[in-house]
Amino acid sequence: MREQLELIQKSAEDELKRAESQTDIEATRIKYLGKKGELTAVLKRMGSLSAEDRPIFGQLANEVRSDIENQIAKKVESIKAVEMAARLQSEAIDITVPGIKQRIGHKHPLSIVLDEVKDIFLGLGFCIATGPEIEWDYYNFEALNIPKNHPARDTQDTFYITENMLLRTQTSPVQIRVMEKQAPPIRIIAPGRVYRSDAVDATHSPLFHQIEGLVVDKGITMGHLKGCLDAFAKCLYGEDTKIRLRPHHFPFTEPSCEIDVSCFRCGGKGCAMCKGEGWIEILGGGMVHPKVLKTGGIDPDEYSGFAFGVGLERLVMFRFSIDDLRLFYENDLRFLSQF
Ligand code: DAH
Repeated sequence: MREQLELIQKSAEDELKRAESQTDIEATRIKYLGKKGELTAVLKRMGSLSAEDRPIFGQLANEVRSDIENQIAKKVESIKAVEMAARLQSEAIDITVPGIKQRIGHKHPLSIVLDEVKDIFLGLGFCIATGPEIEWDYYNFEALNIPKNHPARDTQDTFYITENMLLRTQTSPVQIRVMEKQAPPIRIIAPGRVYRSDAVDATHSPLFHQIEGLVVDKGITMGHLKGCLDAFAKCLYGEDTKIRLRPHHFPFTEPSCEIDVSCFRCGGKGCAMCKGEGWIEILGGGMVHPKVLKTGGIDPDEYSGFAFGVGLERLVMFRFSIDDLRLFYENDLRFLSQF
């Protein structure tokens, strides 16, 4: 029996040495220590031994058993270590390899300048108002003192949804909407999309953007309009910028004017940007017509106001020397990535 036990110990040892995986080790364990294993079979035969031999071989068998168990435990540890090392190697990440650059988008040039304009007017104490792009004829024309058949409608032909509903041609209707809702003092700008049925070319688009301004309070004069827009022009185009008011006509302001800024390229001497004029027209404005105030529910005997409207695309084109408005809408990254 001793030889048998020694043989079991030896061959278990050999097998464990050759084992390459945890599965191999488990097979060895079952083969020797399992219920039907070789060592178990020997132990079962202990009963047939004499009373003196039994404790001797019993002890020996137990030693063999715990020896095999120890070896199994050691082998499992070493195989786990080998497997872990192999895994670490195969999953290794080279943190010195350069990363893939993420392209982060940025603001569209129209948004860049619009945000600047908003900042300037917020700084002057204005709030931002909005109105719908699908507008009633009433707000877009009638309430702004442009009745049906008024010639001003010809220059603002638009897309009609029904006879009385259209895509707004200007941001001026927001003036009326604000006056209806809010009592003076009013100090708002209203940026937004406007539409006209114009064919597309370098300076026309059926969709473009305007920024409306409206101030209503007691004792507002043309001087306030001039001071406000002078501050605006200096903030947007630099301290040396001057403005000039030229008489004009708009149905919803009286008196009305167009406002030019001194050319920010040549400083007023005359260049290609200002077509030799020294001045660039950027705004329309004037004193809110008493009829318009009344329509908005405000008493023109008690209050007066000024209003202005500016085309955002024009501001941006001058700002960045862009000569074709179509570039704003084509989403060509070669153009957009320059800002
Ligand atoms: N809405 C005018 C346009 O689209 C621009 C404008 C002119 C707005 C004078 C005003 C204003 O508020 O007072 O041509």
